[in-house]
Amino acid sequence: MDQPVSPALPSAHAAARPRAVPTHELYRRHALPVRIMHWVNVVALTLMFMSGLQIFNSHPALYWGASSYTGRPAWLEIGARQDSQGRMTGYTRILGREFTTTGVLGVSTDEGRAYAQGFPGWLTVPSHQWLSMARAWHFFFAWIFLINGLCYVLYVIASRHLARDLWPTRMDVRGIGASIVDHLRFRHPTGEAAKRYNVLQKFAYLTVIFVLLPLVILMGFGMSPRLDTLFGGWVDWFGGRQSVRSLHFIIAWLLVGFVLIHVFEVIVTGLWNNVRSMITGRYRVPQEPLRE
Ligand code: HEM
Ligand code: HEM
Repeated sequence: MDQPVSPALPSAHAAARPRAVPTHELYRRHALPVRIMHWVNVVALTLMFMSGLQIFNSHPALYWGASSYTGRPAWLEIGARQDSQGRMTGYTRILGREFTTTGVLGVSTDEGRAYAQGFPGWLTVPSHQWLSMARAWHFFFAWIFLINGLCYVLYVIASRHLARDLWPTRMDVRGIGASIVDHLRFRHPTGEAAKRYNVLQKFAYLTVIFVLLPLVILMGFGMSPRLDTLFGGWVDWFGGRQSVRSLHFIIAWLLVGFVLIHVFEVIVTGLWNNVRSMITGRYRVPQEPLRE
């Protein structure tokens, strides 16, 4: 981050105009390894999430504890019922409260025909019920995701990207209140301040990189047949296999929550400028709006 590509170049017509034309500075925001690993991660996480939902569909209920055979009801259940006329209704029960979710959860429709399925086909890989294939996708991308993540962590430490750009400074922490207010008012930094991540962004990235992703991996490994012989004991730290399965699922959705906010911020702070900086590295620094 933070290497100028070209100096600020005023427009050739600036002198002739009554108001100065805002100048823009292009600089290199993201190093090539960060860009590559970011997009590999996006593809792997997306496919892991979608194949995970297909795995969930083969038994669409989640429990706490070591076993699902204790007689204690599931805290989350997605299912389908058929009435006497043969009409299908989808339902979702969360902590004992039931909601009708036909068309989205429990029952989907395909060319007018209703069929029972937890999450709908457009959200899962593969799109129809196929547990073994979903597990093949999940475990294939687990390795890509894991190796990519390890390379990223080693890179950010070795290149000092972690210390320089991602770790909040004392000033950052003191400015947290102001940053929250700025976010709520959609006021985005310009000039020098726009070259750095803001404090909320830093905390969000660090939480995802060092808390959510390691946890989801740890729990996935704990549940995975074969790998659980290596790391099996871990499931007991979290209350048993069913609890781990529930937590793995919840963290997957927390990651979706992060991505929604992340992409929303990318859009409102300049979609193309931001995405270009993650593809080519080049970022156009937004300038202060000029006052008369
Ligand atoms: C799939 C899950 C995603 C995760 C976990 C994720 C995570 C991250 C992280 C950790 C960074 C900081 C990288 C660094 O500086 O080392 C970042 C930056 C960025 N991400 Fe994502 N991202 C995801 C999806 C996306 C998507 C779908 C887009 C496209 C709209 C996107 C666009 C960007 C951009 C433009 C930046 C640079 C932001 C800036 O320079 O201010 N990300 N992302
Ligand atoms: C190295 C990483 C991972 C491994 C080894 C792994 C492993 C597993 C395993 C073994 C299951 C089946 C659990 C069961 O029902 O018995 C599972 C389910 C699932 N995984 Fe992962 N996973 C990993 C990462 C992820 C990530 C990053 C996401 C989300 C982006 C994710 C989302 C899901 C979801 C939504 C389920 C379905 C929940 C369920 O029914 O158990 N997983 N995973």
